[in-house]
Amino acid sequence: MKAAQARVLLTGASGGIGQAIREALLRAGAQVLGVSRSPQRAGPPGLRWVQADVTSSAGLEAIAAAARAGQANLVVHAAGLPGFGPLQRLSQAQIQSVLQANLAAPILLTQALLPELMQRPKAQIVFVGSALGRIGLPGFSLYGASKAGLHGFAEALRRELADGPVRVQLLAPRSTRTAFNDAQAQAYNKAAGTQSDSPQTVAQALIELIESESSERYIGWPERLAVRLGGAFPVWLDGSFKAHRRYLSADEPPAEEGERS
Ligand SMILES: NC(=O)c1ccc[n+]([C@@H]2O[C@H](COP(=O)([O-])OP(=O)(O)OC[C@H]3O[C@@H](n4cnc5c(N)ncnc54)[C@H](OP(=O)(O)O)[C@@H]3O)[C@@H](O)[C@H]2O)c1
Repeated sequence: MKAAQARVLLTGASGGIGQAIREALLRAGAQVLGVSRSPQRAGPPGLRWVQADVTSSAGLEAIAAAARAGQANLVVHAAGLPGFGPLQRLSQAQIQSVLQANLAAPILLTQALLPELMQRPKAQIVFVGSALGRIGLPGFSLYGASKAGLHGFAEALRRELADGPVRVQLLAPRSTRTAFNDAQAQAYNKAAGTQSDSPQTVAQALIELIESESSERYIGWPERLAVRLGGAFPVWLDGSFKAHRRYLSADEPPAEEGERS
């Protein structure tokens, strides 16, 4: 659909990428209903907010009710949590909250919105995944698992709904310059030579994806190549991550007194 015809429910609208997306959508003439846990000031014409937590049942109900009232015909799932670090350093609570926010919440919200979207002559659902949902990087086992799950969900749902009015799409950014990447993740990216994009680049790619109605879009050519190669011959890429591992082991916290031999 043309962005100007979109009545958008946008989760993650208060984040770095979400803010760029909502500004691009508003400029293109869309109406936007933004979702965030944090309270937001009333925006420019065309922008409304619902304050809700996508990981709670009450939050999902509030979002679904607001989407119904606004007759949403485009849903962009951009809410998400980072999960950087070697697996042994992640807490159980962090593992659960990343999987909840990045995977369970978009699945449950999609399920809640689907009956309404199926009534529209035409509707679209865009999942914001990640290049790391297809390229398994050291230090991103948890985050990559959450996004790989989301990619799998989007692909199966796209095929499940192919005969109806709802089109399912996936946008997979690579590293993007927002607060999502803390100082450690930024240092890791620098050590590994990972390139990054501005949130505006991601927002422009989203507008193009919506208007093209194509199934998926990966941002960045080295990442697109790695996705292709990794898809066909996954073990070929296994030798490519020495710099990443070197950064992670150099960043190990010093052992406690009692742990030293
Ligand atoms: N930045 C990157 O390098 C990068 C690369 C590839 C993909 N992505 C993906 O792009 C999306 C946006 O990332 P970003 O860089 O914009 O991150 P960000 O600046 O940290 O923003 C995260 C957004 O998610 C929302 N959010 C998190 N947990 C929530 C919850 N439980 N309920 C409701 N909203 C919640 C936050 O809203 P409140 O805190 O206001 O509630 C905020 O709007 C994420 O899905 C991320 O995985 C990011």
